[in-house]
This record gives sequence, C-alpha cells and structure tokens, in this order.
Amino acid sequence: MRVERLPMARLTTLGVGGEAEVWTVETLDDLKRATEAPYRVLGNGSNLLVADEGVAERVIRLGGEFALWNPNLSGWVGAGVMVPSLVQAAARLGLSGLEGLYGVPAQVGGAVKMNAGTRFGEMSEALAEVEIFHDGGLHIYRPHELGFTYRGSRLPEGGIVTRVRLELKPSSPEVVQARIAQVDAARKGQPKRKSAGCAFKNPPGDSAGRLIDAAGLKGTTIGRAMISHEHGNFLVNLGGATAAEMYALIKKVQAVLPLEVEWEIWG
Ligand code: FAD
Ligand code: EPU
Repeated sequence: MRVERLPMARLTTLGVGGEAEVWTVETLDDLKRATEAPYRVLGNGSNLLVADEGVAERVIRLGGEFALWNPNLSGWVGAGVMVPSLVQAAARLGLSGLEGLYGVPAQVGGAVKMNAGTRFGEMSEALAEVEIFHDGGLHIYRPHELGFTYRGSRLPEGGIVTRVRLELKPSSPEVVQARIAQVDAARKGQPKRKSAGCAFKNPPGDSAGRLIDAAGLKGTTIGRAMISHEHGNFLVNLGGATAAEMYALIKKVQAVLPLEVEWEIWG
C-alpha cells in the first residue's frame, strides 16, 4: 500500500483540483485499513470536479488484486481495470454487451457506480454479479439489487466496488466491431480537450448539449474554462483552469437552463 499527497489535477481527466492524501490499496487488508477514517473512492477521475482546496477525506485508489482480470473475460474483473481494455477484449473475442461503453475513459468501479454508457448500452446491462466492500467485508450483489438508473446507482452506503463478473452474449468480432463503429460515429462531435465528459444530465427526451447550444452559450469562457464550441455539454479546461472557474461556468448555464449536474463535485 502507498500513501502519498498528490494533486488531484493529475488524477482527473478535467485536470483541476488541489491535493489529497491518496491511499493506493492492493489487498483486502489495505482496504480495511484505508477505510478506518472518512474516505472517497477514486476511479479514473473522469467524472469529477475537485475543489482547488483539495479533498479533506482520504482518497482510495484501487491497485494490486483489485486491478486483476483475465483477458478472455471469464471470471472476476477487478474494479480498478480500465473499461476501454475490456471493450477491446470483448471485440476481439466476439462478445457483445460492452459496445455502448466504447470511448468511456472509466475504471470498472466508476462505470458501475455511474452506470456509464450511451444510448447503445450501459454498464448495468453487462453485469452478472458485483462484489462490494462495505461494513468491513465483501458482499456479492446481483445487478437488480443495485438500483441502476440513467447515470446512477444505489450502492450500499460507503460501498466500494471491488470486482465484477460480466455477462456478455456470444456474437462475432465483425458484428461487435460494427456496433463499436456506430458508437464511435455518435461521439464524433465530442471535443478532444481536457474534460470530464458531459457536465449535465440530459433532461428526459432531450439533450443538454442541444439546449446549451440553442441558448447561445457555446464558447462562453471564464478564465481558462470554456463551454466547448464542438459540443455544448462539454465544459473544457483550456489549460490551467481552476475548479472555481469550472464551477462559475456551471452556474452560468444553470442561471439560464434548469439542468442537473452529472459531474460529481468533491471538496
Ligand atoms: P471517477 O470519475 O473516478 O468517479 C466517479 C464516481 O464513481 C465517484 O462517486 C467515485 O467515488 C465512484 N467510484 C469510482 N470507483 C469506484 C468503486 N470502485 N466503487 C465505488 N464507487 C466508485 N460517461 C458516460 O456515461 N457515457 C459517456 O459516453 C461518457 N463519455 C465520456 C467521455 C470523456 C472524454 C470523458 C472524460 C468522460 C466521459 N464520461 C462518460 C464520464 C465518465 O467516464 C463516467 O462517468 C465514468 O463512469 C466515470 O468513471 P471513473 O472510473 O472515471 O470514476
Ligand atoms: N446537439 C446540438 N448541439 C450541441 C450538442 C448536441 O445541437 O452542442 C444535438 C445533436 O446534434 C443531437 C442531439 O443534440 O441531435 C444529441 O447530441 P449527442 O448525440 O451528442 O448526444 P448527447 O445526448 O449530447 C449523450 C451522452 C454522452 C454520450 C453520447 C453518445 C449524456 C448527458 N450524454 O450525449 O455521454 O457519449 O450521448 O452516445 O447522456 C457523458 O455522459 O459524459 C457523455 C459524454
């Protein structure tokens, strides 16, 4: 186990946020020790806006036995494994069910917690079982017990996803690749700059990006934080943005449109 003070700007895709005490755990014993004081759990940091002041709680990162997986996708997959590696493996093996997650830069645990996905499919649809650490021990859940919704779940209080078992359908590499190409095409309008994906949830039946665009807000800039010209729901870091600037941009949108924030705000 490693414990170090690190700038969260380096551990998040948005690239903002002050320091935190980061506990990188490798075994169940490490996890038990790390959770003895207030904590938050970090995945790949791709849905987070961390305050400039940093994080008061311990930040737990999953390594070691929590990042193991078998490239044939049988058996348990560690929550610290990157989703893009799984999507790639499934395509190679001709297994269908993860295509909707193509392009989502998450870890398995973060993708479960957020029920990440696109209209082509979500994480919850590819799960057989989820192992979760809470109240000092490991517990196994079936997906229907975890209250999955659009970009959300109801994990047990303080629960840390440690491993999952996937349920994928036999198909062929060609069919799976073709579906991935469809998902890739749907992402074409998304910017390449530093972001945490879409900042706001889509209201039922509509798109937050379309609404922000129609309100004429694209290109709005506060300091080094900008509403992307390419896609209205991407708030991007032009380089050196602060969390305060990002937060001010969110408020600017919400002053005009009643949108719910999708990003998780820490600190
Ligand atoms: P983090 O951002 O690190 O954490 C998110 C939440 O999950 C936090 O509450 C954290 O505590 C919790 N968490 C993390 N790991 C665990 C664990 N092991 N156990 C319990 N809780 C945990 N999302 C989509 O849904 N669809 C998209 O198409 C999409 N496209 C994106 C494109 C880009 C370029 C970027 C940067 C992001 C995109 N996102 C998308 C957003 C993001 O990838 C997802 O929300 C993803 O699920 C976050 O996973 P993460 O591992 O990065 O989690
Ligand atoms: N649109 C505009 N202007 C914009 C952006 C979008 O007019 O600036 C229009 C598009 O032309 C399209 C409609 O709005 O007609 C929907 O846009 P898009 O296809 O880009 O989908 P989205 O609803 O904005 C959702 C997810 C993305 C996911 C894509 C691809 C949410 C909040 N967003 O975006 O997920 O990658 O579909 O399937 O659900 C994320 O959650 O972080 C994320 C990036």
